[in-house]
Amino acid sequence: MHKTHEIFEARDFIMTKTAYRPTIGLILGSGLGNLADEIENPFIIPYSEIPHFAKSEAVGHANELVIGSLNGKTVLAMKGRFHYYEGFTLDEVTFPVRVMKALGVEELIITNACGAINTSFNPGDLMLITDHLNLVGTNPLIGPNNAELGTRFPDVSEVYNRNLRTIATEVANEQNTTLQNGVYAWWSGPAYETPAEIRMIRTLGADAVGMSTVPEAIVAVHGQMKVLGISCLTNMACGILDQPLSHDEVIETAAMVREKFIQLVKGIIEKM
Ligand code: 6GU
Repeated sequence: MHKTHEIFEARDFIMTKTAYRPTIGLILGSGLGNLADEIENPFIIPYSEIPHFAKSEAVGHANELVIGSLNGKTVLAMKGRFHYYEGFTLDEVTFPVRVMKALGVEELIITNACGAINTSFNPGDLMLITDHLNLVGTNPLIGPNNAELGTRFPDVSEVYNRNLRTIATEVANEQNTTLQNGVYAWWSGPAYETPAEIRMIRTLGADAVGMSTVPEAIVAVHGQMKVLGISCLTNMACGILDQPLSHDEVIETAAMVREKFIQLVKGIIEKM
């Protein structure tokens, strides 16, 4: 469990560097980091400079906080996130969420690139996360509870906030963007699922599967933040089409979807 003084050290570091006081947080998934480039008058802080942030050497992620204004709101965006499959502990994966909360962020938009399991979805669709399945067999809240951060047994009956989902649906309709609804299953990775595993995960009730988002969402709810989850369905999951998966395909599709994804999230932020 995160220690209050470490969270406050990271918070104080950020607050002394910038006068921005963000109220909305954004975690940007693979290939979706360009949304941060839309932030006006950005103040950028590499994760490596922030006290108690994990050290990441992963390539392909910028690994920096981008703070500034976006559609009239002050936002803090994570360009690049920490993944469990990289070997980070769930404390490390979710520490930035604690810091956001300490900074005054009350609403968190979590995004990801993931695989589609529901056969009525198409690669390139966006999906509003309505609920999740934690298939990883661990939980970021395991360990002694820090009661200053949240309760021991948090209610997770509405992880993905209903009002934010309504706003997202309205904005998608206005923009004529298809926004599927579905349950996101968290798979540890880094190997994708086998066809048998995808059959299992579908049977369990998931519409999409990916390697992130759930730990951050659980910690945000523990901290009583409102969460919105948006997935970019970059490919059909294994075994649905008779073809192998590749990370290149994931990045390619995310790039194709980039513009409608950016417009959707900006439209949502304007209405939050
Ligand atoms: Cl098919 N599975 C997982 N776990 N993550 C993904 C994915 C699939 N496609 C993109 N990300």
